[in-house]
Amino acid sequence: MSTGEGVRESWSTRIGFILAAVGSAVGLGNIWRFPFQVGQEGGAAFLVMYLAFVVLIGFPAMLVEFVVGRRTGLNTVGAIKEFGTARWRYLGGLFVFIGFVILSYYSVVGGWVLRYILGSGRGSYMDASAGEYFVSIASGTDALVFHAIFMAIVVAIVGLGVQRGIELSVKIMVPAIIAIFAILAGYAFTLDGAAEAYSYYLQPNLDVLINNWASIVPAAAGQAFFTLSLGMGVMITYASYLSEDENLAIDGTSIVVFNTGISILAGLIVFPILFTAGVDPETSGAGAIFISVAQALTDIPLGQVIGVLFFATVAIAAVSSAISLIEVVVSYAIDEFGMDRVPATLAIGFLIFLLGAPVTVDTVMVDLYDILAAQILLVIGALLLISLVVIFHTEEALDEIQKGVTDLGWWGYLWLWIVGVPVVIVLGVSLMLGLDTYVKFLQGPFADFLSSL
Ligand code: PFF
Repeated sequence: MSTGEGVRESWSTRIGFILAAVGSAVGLGNIWRFPFQVGQEGGAAFLVMYLAFVVLIGFPAMLVEFVVGRRTGLNTVGAIKEFGTARWRYLGGLFVFIGFVILSYYSVVGGWVLRYILGSGRGSYMDASAGEYFVSIASGTDALVFHAIFMAIVVAIVGLGVQRGIELSVKIMVPAIIAIFAILAGYAFTLDGAAEAYSYYLQPNLDVLINNWASIVPAAAGQAFFTLSLGMGVMITYASYLSEDENLAIDGTSIVVFNTGISILAGLIVFPILFTAGVDPETSGAGAIFISVAQALTDIPLGQVIGVLFFATVAIAAVSSAISLIEVVVSYAIDEFGMDRVPATLAIGFLIFLLGAPVTVDTVMVDLYDILAAQILLVIGALLLISLVVIFHTEEALDEIQKGVTDLGWWGYLWLWIVGVPVVIVLGVSLMLGLDTYVKFLQGPFADFLSSL
């Protein structure tokens, strides 16, 4: 079904929904963003905070999105309209806006990944320095062209429709990601730098945590939301295709476990390679992973083959997340304006391409979009959605979370209390700290960039 009229599509199987949600969660957030956040924020200290946020904040917040999506059976904006008063429609608008912003730079980074598949195959960064190679492809015409190619792939898949496009592609992509990553992590384990890498990555240093909490907290919260695809209604839209006999908590647990496992696995691949090549994981910025992994690949045996495998896997993961980002906007256009899927997807894809174009001017633009999206917009989105549900729809939320469960007992109340009190407090604090981080970025690196123009 591809028009605004008639019966909505639904997932053909339960595993289809889980795979699609995992496909959305697992992406550049796990592979590109997670390792460089770990590197920037002090190694294992960040990892611990991040894991705590995923379990204590991300998981309960995910259930809120599931409840809203399945209860209403609508796209993000429609769902908010049904749950809120007229004023709340701005929250739906915010979600669509966040989808636009995230996908616009996500696609640029996705384009870098596509470029690196070719670069690895040809051994391009093996002759030049890895840093120079990154600079040569990360901005300018190359970046713009590959940004366009990435968006074209996403538009083509989503244009085919939820079931044929998203579900089928994810059924192939997710198992591929897990298999290839397991092989690469096994390979990384055999490297000389592995032991040092594991202790950096897995042994938290409390002092680091205490001294840097003001930047670690918003970074960990932002990363938790980004990686779990929360705070902008992706999970509302996906859960809207779900049937009532589904146990939401169990589905949520599988998604969180899969996603976290893949992030941890990504670190187990990236850090041993970096340490073996003597590359400092703290090298900051959006290019850190590309530069350092590429540099490492030039030094290790079979680097070219591993490079193609690595970046092809990252590309698969990125596409499966990008389709969920655009699906929020597309399903909105279909449900609210009765547009057909294909023209809606084409038009939206083109607009997102345009919004992403400035990101190809300089890599500092990635940070400009990324910090705003992860540390501010997603947190605001989640906070508002939680408030809407906890303040106005407690009974409905409790009723919905119980469906498909034999006896939830007091767990339902506990869940509502957790999202309503501690989660809101932590997110509020995190938002303040995130705003502070962003202001510092605007006054520092971004101001420097502007004055260099
Ligand atoms: N979770 C995706 C990733 O980790 O790459 C990115 C993402 C998708 C973020 C969907 C937000 C979202 F709503």
